[in-house]
Amino acid sequence: MIKKCLFPAAGYGTRFLPATKAMPKEMLPIVNKPLIQYGVEEALEAGITTMAIVTGRGKRSLEDHFDISYELEHQIRGTDKEIYLKDIREVMEQCTFSYTRQMEMKGLGHAILTGETLIGNEPFAVVLADDLCDNPEGEGVLSQMIELYHKYRCSIVAIEEVEVSEVDKYGVISGREIDAGVYMVDNMIEKPSIAEAPSNLAVIGRYILTPDIFDILRDTKPGKKGEIQITDALLEQCKKGMVLAYKFKGKRYDCGSIDGFVMATNVFYQKHHQG
Ligand code: G1P
Repeated sequence: MIKKCLFPAAGYGTRFLPATKAMPKEMLPIVNKPLIQYGVEEALEAGITTMAIVTGRGKRSLEDHFDISYELEHQIRGTDKEIYLKDIREVMEQCTFSYTRQMEMKGLGHAILTGETLIGNEPFAVVLADDLCDNPEGEGVLSQMIELYHKYRCSIVAIEEVEVSEVDKYGVISGREIDAGVYMVDNMIEKPSIAEAPSNLAVIGRYILTPDIFDILRDTKPGKKGEIQITDALLEQCKKGMVLAYKFKGKRYDCGSIDGFVMATNVFYQKHHQG
């Protein structure tokens, strides 16, 4: 069973400055809901109720978002505005939240290792909340990945095909397709140049990780940009055993970029309008 989901949320959100100067990027709203809540709802849909969030300085509003606001609750109790708190109340009733702080920004791999104290020795999911995933046709991406985990019991990364000119923004994998849309990874490079890229299959912000990843991360040297990369740790895990990449069903919006953010806003606005 995958019971816990880790949300690395300590990053600066530089691509969104000045909006993210005093506000975490995970709190940027798509229509009326912050990105982190979409991530939590996706995890909840996948049967996960323990949310583990790696925060940093200036991220207190994340904790406040998933806590009771007595003053607000008091003000709107019994009024027609109560309906606006319905979704977040449901999330809070069903989940528990725990937090730890990453004191230095040493990369995604380091952020995940910082979360070990909240995860312990069990397989877990990871959601990067600025990758907003939506599957109007069926189950969310984490649900799809957990189903796959039950079959293969190994780490899994979600992938999608990207333009060749975009490969240097992602972790890029290559592998052998062992089932429809399921690849056994044989190589994985963080933000490769076009020449280095092993394919155009890019990792997006959804992972299922087995807990041996923590020991590997402890031994992982800084890679691209001098940071400890989860991609490098996963390649190591791949050499020792098996890592899968899964071409998920649905659409991902890169809400860490202005274009992706606006696209997601338009799509979710339509949904919101249609009720
Ligand atoms: C991180 C990972 C990268 C992955 C991406 C998905 O990069 O390091 O491998 O492809 O998330 O969004 P970041 O976007 O934090 O630079």
